[in-house]
Amino acid sequence: MFSTSTMIERNVMASFGEEMERSLKRAHSNIVLALDPPADGPRRLVSKSTHILQAVHPYICAVKINRQLVLPVGLFPGVQKIVELAHELGLPAIMDCKINDVGYTNRAIAEFYYEAGFDAVISNPFVGWREGLEPVFEVAEKMRRGVILLVYMSHKGAEEGYGQTVYNAKTGKRMPQYSVFAEKALSWKADGAVVGATFPKIIREVHQILDDRVPIYSPGVGAQGGKIGSAIKAGARYLIVGRAITRSEAPAQTAKSIRDSANRYLE
Ligand code: XMP
Repeated sequence: MFSTSTMIERNVMASFGEEMERSLKRAHSNIVLALDPPADGPRRLVSKSTHILQAVHPYICAVKINRQLVLPVGLFPGVQKIVELAHELGLPAIMDCKINDVGYTNRAIAEFYYEAGFDAVISNPFVGWREGLEPVFEVAEKMRRGVILLVYMSHKGAEEGYGQTVYNAKTGKRMPQYSVFAEKALSWKADGAVVGATFPKIIREVHQILDDRVPIYSPGVGAQGGKIGSAIKAGARYLIVGRAITRSEAPAQTAKSIRDSANRYLE
């Protein structure tokens, strides 16, 4: 757990975004570890995850957990214990659950993850605001946690949804779906926007809309072919890195080297 003083600061004083920025500066790292160890039995998954997190924590600013860990291990107390460890190591924890249902269900999902200690949840703006993500933002505000929106995913098929051109009948304007989502990230006061490192051109366009008001989280470096320098130069604030670290023979050394490379491009 956070020490009492950190806990008070986290709950009363700092927003998720401020917590992330503080963590980035403290660790001199913008690397968010995607803690996705290869499939295994639940006990071995917990011990592998714990081992990797302890080894790489000096070189990262946050940890991101995915359903591929929650499903075999369970949320309470399995993944909750890993979130507690992240907090003991001074790291915020992000749940990559891509919330994507009707509001009533979305609210319950967000509450479970926040109850387990997660500091932010990733959500999908395709479901819209009313009876969609509004309840998630309400719970986040009440519990002082974060919501990060998908704006353009890192895989090739992202083009079919996030990349389509949409027509706004009210304004008569056509624009890419991801620009619409970037504008929603601003108007909904999201704490982050996800844009794949595999699409630096789109990171740049989204960054032009968001400026520095909503930070860009960029997955896809390493295993998916995204490049550290081009993602950061285009405007990514945080890099989400998984397999390049978790499948490395020497995760700590690899995390350090990725961190050092990223730092060469950060202001
Ligand atoms: P790798 O091993 O490819 O892991 O470095 C990347 C991690 O990030 C997740 N991922 C995404 N999450 N939007 C997200 O919210 C995305 O566009 C996206 N692309 C990858 C992936 O599930 C893994 O945990």
